[in-house]
Amino acid sequence: MKTATIKEILLNDKTVNDITLMGWVKTRRDLKSQSFAELNDGSTRQNLQIVIDNSDPKFQSVLAKIVNGASVKVIGDLVQSPAKGQKYEVKVKEILVLGECDQEKYPIQKKKTSDEFLRTVAHLRPRTNKYASMLRIRSELSFAIHKYFRDNGFFYVHTPIITSSDCEGAGQMFSVSAFDIGNIKNLPIDKDGNVDFSKDLFGRRTYLTVSGQLEGETLALGLGKIYTFGPTFRAENSNTYRHAAEFWMVEPEMAFYDIYDDMDLAEDFVKNITKHVMDNCSLDIELFAKFVEPNLINNLKNVIETKYERLTYTDAVKILEKENERFENKVSWGTDLASEHERFLVEHYFKKPVIMYNKPKNVAAFYMKLNEDGKTVRGMDLLVPRIGELVGGSEREERLDVLIEKMKEFNMNIDSYWWYLDLRRFGTVPHSGFGLGFERMMMLVTGIGNIRDVCAYPRVPGYAEF
Ligand code: 4AD
Ligand code: MG
Repeated sequence: MKTATIKEILLNDKTVNDITLMGWVKTRRDLKSQSFAELNDGSTRQNLQIVIDNSDPKFQSVLAKIVNGASVKVIGDLVQSPAKGQKYEVKVKEILVLGECDQEKYPIQKKKTSDEFLRTVAHLRPRTNKYASMLRIRSELSFAIHKYFRDNGFFYVHTPIITSSDCEGAGQMFSVSAFDIGNIKNLPIDKDGNVDFSKDLFGRRTYLTVSGQLEGETLALGLGKIYTFGPTFRAENSNTYRHAAEFWMVEPEMAFYDIYDDMDLAEDFVKNITKHVMDNCSLDIELFAKFVEPNLINNLKNVIETKYERLTYTDAVKILEKENERFENKVSWGTDLASEHERFLVEHYFKKPVIMYNKPKNVAAFYMKLNEDGKTVRGMDLLVPRIGELVGGSEREERLDVLIEKMKEFNMNIDSYWWYLDLRRFGTVPHSGFGLGFERMMMLVTGIGNIRDVCAYPRVPGYAEF
């Protein structure tokens, strides 16, 4: 007797006597002398059909409990299925209901339910075909990321989640405190009437990280090529299909890379991990191509096979300015481009992914390297269909004096970045990196239209249930 997953049973591809199988019932139908149920155990999108001789008195009491959502343990023989639709089925010898499921109350019904409704029962979503497929792809995509970097000589490093510096300088940080902040009366107050964080656990104000980049740079300037892959937090009140307050970001950082090397890496990386998922998750991808995004396979081939368009921000603005009447936000040189502009370039103009680089310094982060023109910086964004910005990166400002000037312009507290500036004081080198939003990558490979549906438990404005 052997317990195996449905995936293992189907891969084994041989009839076996006396197998043990456990899973959840998806459907049941009854014929005169036989009842058929589809079981799924999460290991694969494929169900395994079990066949119960319903004339046998020993199955009488149990049959009524073999309903959608119930969990069962089955012992039986794996035989060739005489019917069309599946190669194998299990002739049941014994069946035990592990957990009953009340059909009146079970929220996951067979009929199509909306994404909005399923978000309210996110703890049961993994039982649906769609979310199980999404979660299997998420797992494989994570693996693909680690594999890509390992195969290319990168080291996986872990940067802190609790930090005292604001990498993006955008002030979108969640505070972290050991104070009992639920009770205002307990907070220590300094002489100016502010909360006295010197009495807090770290002796200073701390936050959840918005990016591991700054610490990542310090590690790359010792190890050469590193990457981080971890949770990232942004307290921005953006209620859109592509923003979450908690998301995962992949951040490679490379010593001796310039902006062009950085763009080459981003393009190769996105192509490679997309191909990995297409090759290794074909059944799950097929579900999304069938039920979610009819153009998915073509879109993914486009991502893998085309050479991405590369153009400067200035050239992009020249194209966009001519189209201003179609945009809600009008474009001129210096505008921070919005998703409508990004999507126009990718979906209508070039019809393929686009890498836009050399943006104006006023819409860029402080650490991006200033170009000779004094107006633009060596930042780049990789834009993809339906999503817009998937990757944001840059060559870093490695010149101490220029960086300090820049930080002054940004009104930053230069003293608290002493360690970041030390990189430029001691053996500074050109270096570059980027951040890829993992959930946005999930949206790209699945065709799912809302970031809330590519996370098991989305954290978005107004919502942190579970
Ligand atoms: O462009 P961003 O803000 O870049 C950085 O944080 C750099 N420090 C990265 C680096 O150079 N190491 O963010 C990078 C990517 C974006 O392109 C986007 O895909 C994703 O992170 N992202 C978000 N994804 C979901 N929800 C949000 N609120 C996101 N904000 C950024
Ligand atoms: Mg960005």
